[in-house]
Order: sequence, then structure tokens, then C-alpha cells
Amino acid sequence: MPKLSVRNLRKSYFNDDMEETKVLDGISFDVQDREFLSILGPSGCGKTTLLKIIAGLLQPDSGEVVFDGARASGGRHRVGFIFQQESLFPWRTVRKNIEFGLEAEHYDPAERQMLVDRMVDLVGMKEFENNLPHEISGGQARKTEMARSLVTSPDILVSDECFSNLDSQTRNYLQEEFLRIWQETGSTIIFVSHNVDEAVFMSDRVILLSNIPAHIINEFVISLPRPRDRTSTDCLSYRAEILDLLRVEQEKAMHLRGT
Ligand SMILES: Nc1ncnc2c1ncn2[C@@H]1O[C@H](COP(=O)(O)OP(=O)(O)OP(=O)(O)O)[C@@H](O)[C@H]1O
Ligand SMILES: [Mg+2]
Repeated sequence: MPKLSVRNLRKSYFNDDMEETKVLDGISFDVQDREFLSILGPSGCGKTTLLKIIAGLLQPDSGEVVFDGARASGGRHRVGFIFQQESLFPWRTVRKNIEFGLEAEHYDPAERQMLVDRMVDLVGMKEFENNLPHEISGGQARKTEMARSLVTSPDILVSDECFSNLDSQTRNYLQEEFLRIWQETGSTIIFVSHNVDEAVFMSDRVILLSNIPAHIINEFVISLPRPRDRTSTDCLSYRAEILDLLRVEQEKAMHLRGT
């Protein structure tokens, strides 16, 4: 049984004049336990909207999200979310940020301490655990967010373009860290990106979304052993194939806009 099934999700937004913008146009896919699934799509196509629906932060107009065979309702399923913008609490130290979800779920203090110690070590933030967010780097902030999301062992972790705005060296380093943490924690991950290289390097499978309103245009199983070499012919040939499809999608959008 899949860890998560997304079934025929549709979503529109309406402006003040009640004009409709159709964003999701019947999205369906499964995610297997411990899978690393990436979702790629053009800017503004509805990726964040899709993640918010999966996390129960937004209601779809129709369709459903099913966890372990049970329809999600009332936020019973637990989804860890790494947001597109940095979202650490600026007044809390690294350690207190990581501890946040455990406090909210009323874990007892001894267990809290043990779980936070483990996460701090896992993401390599021991030396900085008492620093405030403005006293750490952008890359360290992302690792802290990863730890904060994973500390409560969510059913699934969704990550929204979390390596944008980082220089390419930090980005490569964090991709490797993210993979290590995924493997060590046995997590199931949906990883939204607009970077084709990143998706091919990291994922078991990549889903491609069309321009808005988003539907799935293709799916690639990346059957390459890990650790992967980003510059290998295999990685580059997946990259070329995916970029071709995205280019066609882009051209269609430009044609529709008459540009
Ligand atoms: N709350 C909202 N109200 C109205 N329109 C919205 C709202 N949120 C998003 N949109 C619109 O819906 C579309 C999809 O937005 P979304 O943020 O899901 O896209 P995205 O794929 O995550 O984009 P990006 O790659 O830039 O992060 C966009 O056209 C956006 O302007
Ligand atoms: Mg987004």
C-alpha cells in the first residue's frame, strides 16, 4: 500500500471580482514508503498549492489525499513542511527551534531532550545549538529547519524549493546532507524543485507538472545507484530528456500568451 495517494486534486483561486484562476487540474500520484519523490514544474504552476493541500493547510475543491489507505481529515496525518521561505522563529535558538514541534505535541521533557540531542547531532549543528537564527548561515538555517521538521517523525516530509537562494556550492553540500538525513531517518519525502539537475541527483522518481493549470505531463524513475555522480552520462541524459519536455511546455505557454 502506498504511503500517500493524491487522487484527482483540483483547486482554483478566485480574486475579488470572483474571476477564477484554475491552478490544479486533476493531479493524481502515489508515494511509496521511504521514497524520495521530486516534483518539477514551471514557476507559478501550482507546486506550493499542491504541497499545502497535502499538508492539510489548504482544502482542495475536489479530490482527496489518502495516507496509508485512510482518507486524511482534520489534520490527523502528520506532515513535516520545509517552506519556500526561511521560517525559523527568530527569537528561539537553534535548539529551541528544533524542539518546537515536541513542545506543541506535549512530549515529556526527558524524551524531548533526547530527541533534540539526536537531531542536533544528525544535522551537525551541535556547535551552534545555542545560536539565534541571525547568528547562523543560510545553509545552517536550512539544516535546522530540516531537523525541526523531522524531529517528530512525521509520516511524510514535504520540502518546497528549500535550496533556492543558496550559492551552488552550499546547495550541492546540502543536497548530499539532505540525502544522508533521509536515508538515516528512513523518511518519505516529496521534494519540490525547479532545478532539473537537483531533482535527477536526489530522487527515486521525478514527476513533471505542466504550466498552470497544472497536470502531470510525465514521470521518470531515476534508476541510478547512490551516491550519484551529477556529471555522469546517465544523469546528463535524464537531464536532457526532462529539459526537452519542460521546454515544450514553456513554448506552449508562450504560444498561448501570444508572445
Ligand atoms: N492565495 C492565493 N490567492 C490567489 N492566487 C494564488 C494564491 N496562492 C497562489 N496563487 C496563484 O496560484 C498560482 C500557483 O501558485 P503556487 O504558489 O502554488 O505556484 P508555485 O508553482 O509554487 O510557484 P513558484 O515556483 O513561483 O514557487 C500562481 O499563479 C499564483 O499567483
Ligand atoms: Mg512555490
